[in-house]
Amino acid sequence: MSPSWIFALLLLLPSLVDAAEPRRKSGEHASLPLNGREVYVRSCAMCHSTGAGGAPRLGSGEDWAERAKKGPAELMVSVLRGKGGMPPKGGNASLTRVEAYLALDYMLNVEK
Ligand code: HEC
Repeated sequence: MSPSWIFALLLLLPSLVDAAEPRRKSGEHASLPLNGREVYVRSCAMCHSTGAGGAPRLGSGEDWAERAKKGPAELMVSVLRGKGGMPPKGGNASLTRVEAYLALDYMLNVEK
């Protein structure tokens, strides 16, 4: 390997490592959770772990059986608009659609 090759590699390496990391914006979204479980814990668990107000409980096949038949798209509409005792986005207006979807996906796919 010629010296210029090594130099080019050294220059490239940090950007390759950087590209492998999930993008995180600076500023107000610095701690943006990009993981469905994290979003769930922060914004959904207070109702969905206990079933407060009739919320379908996490991991309860019985609670989810009928609702799951609607399919994720319709359930997502409920999450974004709110339903019954659930305010829009579970009351966390700062959630992005992607975060809300990740939480829904986590809830639907968690071990039953
Ligand atoms: C303040 C309590 C509360 C929070 C916080 C909350 N939910 Fe709910 N959720 C409910 C209740 C109550 C229902 C049952 C609503 C009904 O069917 O009348 C419900 C229902 C749902 C349903 C089923 C909707 C349907 O169409 O059957 C989904 C999916 C759901 N929640 C996802 C979420 C997600 C994702 C979050 C977090 C981003 C969240 N919820 C946060 C109370 C809450």
